Amino acid sequence: MEYDEPLFFKVMQYAANADRDVVDMVSGNPDWEPPQALRDGLHEYADADIEDFQYPPSEGLRELREEIAERRNVSVDQVVVTNGAGEANYLAMARAMERDAGDEIILTDPVYPYYPGKTTMLDGEARFVPTERDGSLDPAKVRDVASDDTACIVVNTPNNPTGAVYGRETMEELVAIAEEHDALLVADEVYDHFDFSGRFESALTIDSEHRVVVTSYSKSMAITGYRVGYAVFPDSHVKAAKTRHMLVNVTGSRPAQQAVLHALRNTDADYYEETRAMLRERIDAFTDALDAAGAEYSRPDGAFYVLARFDDFPGTLDNVYTLIDEAGVAGMPGEAFGTARDEWIRFALVTPRAEEAAARLADYF
Ligand SMILES: Cc1ncc(COP(=O)(O)O)c(C=O)c1O
Repeated sequence: MEYDEPLFFKVMQYAANADRDVVDMVSGNPDWEPPQALRDGLHEYADADIEDFQYPPSEGLRELREEIAERRNVSVDQVVVTNGAGEANYLAMARAMERDAGDEIILTDPVYPYYPGKTTMLDGEARFVPTERDGSLDPAKVRDVASDDTACIVVNTPNNPTGAVYGRETMEELVAIAEEHDALLVADEVYDHFDFSGRFESALTIDSEHRVVVTSYSKSMAITGYRVGYAVFPDSHVKAAKTRHMLVNVTGSRPAQQAVLHALRNTDADYYEETRAMLRERIDAFTDALDAAGAEYSRPDGAFYVLARFDDFPGTLDNVYTLIDEAGVAGMPGEAFGTARDEWIRFALVTPRAEEAAARLADYF
């Protein structure tokens, strides 16, 4: 069986090898500083005793899990520290599939492409529910597709690539649908610190044996390379998830977890607020320049991506290569996220040159 390999690295490589200056807006790699306490924690770790250089507990450092449990108001036993949200999504989807409770996984269109890739890898069948024009998800459409073959429903809010933030009612409905069909709702909340709408509410506030919440520090602390995230599982699934995590990974990285723990304890809300303010400015500057370019675009309520559509220029991989070569701007083709936005191109606002990039696009078009 062939697994679909997401295109991100391919496009990044093409941009890096281009013969000209390119503004890279391909990946979700933040270009801003992590919290100072994160750097301090890592420096401190370098001088730790040798026993601190050995395996941490497989489920994650006890103190980190306790810190997470307290902040999220859940039992420490439910928390599994993972190698990012990526692994946490995998653990949740795999757990949903191994229960003999159906083999279909409901995803949205557009979709974060790692979900269908994992679905194939797990021998599941993907069922796509189109989102609305503004990126919102109508639970009634999920209900139409859900059946007793549904093992899992995976949603992402705030959303990559649409920037939509699902409201509480949507999440309650999704949990209810999962309960009705003995499915697991996986809420990927990796952009939970990037809500510009004030509407985001974690699915953790909806208590259910049928929902798993996934997040990570990759984006919130600007450390995609550290690989620290976690999942909060219902009691009835957490043991199986921990076993799979142990068999696949043994455990996670102790220095990274230690640094995250130090940062959690020593970073105040200003860090996150300042990052959001900086991103708001970027969104304004980029979308103003897109207005000038006469492009259609989606203004994100959350996360840090803008989808833009240019006349007679669909979001194909070839067109993205053309923009790299001829405009000096690299984005991701909309067709990489399913069919619903295949006319669009996604730009990640992870560069201080976002406004310049939009000006280049205006010139080109
Ligand atoms: C929706 C979504 N989920 C998961 C991930 C992966 O996150 P992590 O680095 O925590 O594995 C990303 C990364 O861009 C993402 O956009």
